[in-house]
Amino acid sequence: MEYGLFGNDDRLPMIGFGTWDVRGRAGVRTLVEALDVGYRLIDTAHMYANEHVVGEALRASGLTREDVFVTTKLDRPYAGYDEALAGCDHSLRELGLDYVDLLLIHEPYAQTRDMWRALVELREQGKARHIGVSNFQGRFLTDFLAWCDTEGLPQPELDQIEAHVYWTQASTREVLEQRGILVQAWAPFTEGRRRIFSEPALVEVGRRHGKTAAQVALRYLLQLGVAVVPKSSHRQRMAENLDVFDFELDADDMTRIARLDEGCSLFGWY
Ligand SMILES: NC(=O)c1ccc[n+]([C@@H]2O[C@H](COP(=O)([O-])OP(=O)(O)OC[C@H]3O[C@@H](n4cnc5c(N)ncnc54)[C@H](OP(=O)(O)O)[C@@H]3O)[C@@H](O)[C@H]2O)c1
Repeated sequence: MEYGLFGNDDRLPMIGFGTWDVRGRAGVRTLVEALDVGYRLIDTAHMYANEHVVGEALRASGLTREDVFVTTKLDRPYAGYDEALAGCDHSLRELGLDYVDLLLIHEPYAQTRDMWRALVELREQGKARHIGVSNFQGRFLTDFLAWCDTEGLPQPELDQIEAHVYWTQASTREVLEQRGILVQAWAPFTEGRRRIFSEPALVEVGRRHGKTAAQVALRYLLQLGVAVVPKSSHRQRMAENLDVFDFELDADDMTRIARLDEGCSLFGWY
């Protein structure tokens, strides 16, 4: 495993396991399997309605609390100062944990600034070891960072954004990197919106390294300094997606893959 470093030198596993749509008994089995395969970061959210599933899997895994990095996110029902404080307590109850490793604002809301003040307090209280945002990009991101500076508030430690070979968000990444804010990609496989697993450039580069298109797609993001949270419900793919630390894309590979970047979202949410 490779790690990103937070400002206090705490480590962020560069690969985590996504849990969108991981539900019920099958979801617990999937997560226990992911932990067994070796994942040590689980990415959940209030919005996914599966924090209790994550909690059950953590308890069933036999791992200790310190072994696993748990991220959750607060969304619209918790948009506000008091609401965000209550939202964190709700998530902790659902997860069966005393703290989360990373608490994010799921997306921009009109009450983002009030939520941020609450997250800063939650970190001080020890209920969240690290705090950050998700889907903050472009003008909204730079305005928010300027506001943090003006108010003398800490900046986010991480921004989780849409990123994959078809859109690596170069301009947003540049802002984040300049500020020392970690970048994490959601939907690194585009949630299946593109035929990424048979994308010729990825398949051909992979063939030279003895790797699959999926592994090349993840390795590309990692070499850009972007952490990833892919999801798979198949054990063999879970393992495949973790097995990306024993090869290096060279400059030609990186240039070739960079040509896939279309410079715009495949989701169009923001
Ligand atoms: N912050 C946000 O707003 C936000 C938004 C979306 C997602 N997320 C997070 O990001 C995580 C990842 O995104 P995602 O789950 O939407 O999509 P994804 O990881 O981009 O793609 C998952 C799809 O890829 C397939 N897959 C995975 N590994 C594969 C492999 N090696 N070969 C072939 N197919 C493979 C999976 O199929 P199988 O399951 O059949 O293997 C599944 O259909 C989410 O689970 C969630 O935690 C966050």
